[in-house]
Amino acid sequence: MKITIIPTAQQAQGINFSGQTAVVIDVLRATSVITTALENGAREVIPVKTVEEAQSVYAQCDTANTLRGGERNALKIEGFDLSNSPLEYKKKVVEGKTLILTTTNGTNAINNIIGADEVVLACFRNAAALADHLVGLSHCVNRDVVIVCAGTEGRFSLDDGLCAGMIIDLLKQQTEVETDDLGLLLTHYYNSNKTNLLGALSGCFHLKRLFTLGFYDDIRFCLETNCVTTVPIVQEGKIKKKQMP
Ligand code: MLT
Repeated sequence: MKITIIPTAQQAQGINFSGQTAVVIDVLRATSVITTALENGAREVIPVKTVEEAQSVYAQCDTANTLRGGERNALKIEGFDLSNSPLEYKKKVVEGKTLILTTTNGTNAINNIIGADEVVLACFRNAAALADHLVGLSHCVNRDVVIVCAGTEGRFSLDDGLCAGMIIDLLKQQTEVETDDLGLLLTHYYNSNKTNLLGALSGCFHLKRLFTLGFYDDIRFCLETNCVTTVPIVQEGKIKKKQMP
């Protein structure tokens, strides 16, 4: 399997991903939120780039069964139902609901992927399920994989990169993998730090920012590995839970 890494959402812009499977990662916190919401029974998540777009999509939805979530500057958006804390996306809150989500980086990364044959979302919580999905897919189709790290406002973010390294490492245990220089570096960094992910990210600027804001429980939750089997898949602008055969 050939895997390339795109370090930020912005660098995914303008590329035609035709013939590839794209994996989007925004560990802190968008893809962790989406994975948790779908794991807890949300019907679908609609990722949008702006607050205005979120409001206009909401106006066209069955509002009794729709929630608006996300963040700006890591904080809840005024008038929205939920912030970008995965801990808020509990079963009793999201089950059966449509979620409209807008975040600074993650939902942009998802919307920046044009033309990919399949777009799936990853975080530490579903890394093993995601790797299994990619291996299963490789038995049916011969497609290259591109991992798009969302980053933070145009800068590479190590939390996303560490998760990319973990996914490549998991894939290497099951199949032959060829990756680019960044993929090699991230796999090595993950392997040297896999017993202490929090320590590996202690200098990471986005993590430090969330830490300063007091979001310790979110960070802890987002760094838990392989605890869910949900693989979010983007289909016609909506993210759903991939139905396993
Ligand atoms: C994002 O998509 O920008 C984030 O997940 C940021 C955050 O949760 O603070």
